[in-house]
Amino acid sequence: MKAVRTIAELRDSIEELKSSSNKRTVGLVPTMGYLHQGHASLIRAAKDQSDIVVVSIFVNPIQFGPGEDFETYPRDEERDLDAAEGAGADLVFLPSVETMYPKPTKTKITVADVTSGLCGASRPGHFDGVTTVVSKLFNIVQPDYAFFGMKDAQQVAVIEQMVSDLNFNVKIMPCPIIREEDGLALSSRNVYLSPEERTQALVLSRSLRDAEEALEKDQIRTAAEARDLLVSTIQKSQLAVIDYVEVAAFPDLSPLDDDALISELDEPVLLALAVKFGKTRLIDNRLLHPK
Ligand code: PAJ
Repeated sequence: MKAVRTIAELRDSIEELKSSSNKRTVGLVPTMGYLHQGHASLIRAAKDQSDIVVVSIFVNPIQFGPGEDFETYPRDEERDLDAAEGAGADLVFLPSVETMYPKPTKTKITVADVTSGLCGASRPGHFDGVTTVVSKLFNIVQPDYAFFGMKDAQQVAVIEQMVSDLNFNVKIMPCPIIREEDGLALSSRNVYLSPEERTQALVLSRSLRDAEEALEKDQIRTAAEARDLLVSTIQKSQLAVIDYVEVAAFPDLSPLDDDALISELDEPVLLALAVKFGKTRLIDNRLLHPK
């Protein structure tokens, strides 16, 4: 595995790998580092699907809002390189902020509608930062496949929309959420949690599982009932402060009518939530396939 920091080095290394063997397809796994088993699962999926696996590690300043955790976002380059290699990466791209944004960026990519609810509503400008950096990475790496976790289901929907609207020549590969044994979705931000917050954060996965079960058993049927059940379950946890709880159609993320009967819907339904524990904002979701 090779680690590179400049765009020229990365392009040369990809060309070298392509020409030195009959390796053809490139899989990209974009990350912000502090890699965990969720990221590793994407790298392994990339390895299964593509000849050359490129992992990018870049804490992208333009997707963080004022007062968010850009400066304190956890970083550990050495451990990340080991984790990437262990999972099967061929190349790790570690650009500096100056490499990605040598001059103030005057161009940005904005996806409308899909970005208006959920995290888009509570983090204004966040998805412009994500789509702008992901387009730059697509242009730099020119991957055949790009792997994204359903942990960030809205991010998957937004990127799929961008790829389709702008004819990027890349296939988006959504990958399942990886969880701890007790249900907590893996996240680089979990390290911020105190032991008490970590325990209480289990309410997220539990509330989603309970809501799905209640829907399956017909104990609840409508979008509003699902949302109310999620909210009341989460509120039982004293340290939880709800940012949003949403029930939306996937992938267009249009909100469902309160009285929409979930089991009657043709499209998948996303139960999604963002909850703060102390200073740490966690997200989780569950995608239901009613039919
Ligand atoms: P980051 O939060 O580092 O996540 C990188 C990728 O790992 C994303 O596709 C995310 O959905 C996936 N991931 C994180 N936790 C996961 C889990 N528990 N199970 C499965 N996949 C998981 O998402 C970003 O970085 C950035 O927005 C980025 C796309 C790199 C653009 O800057």
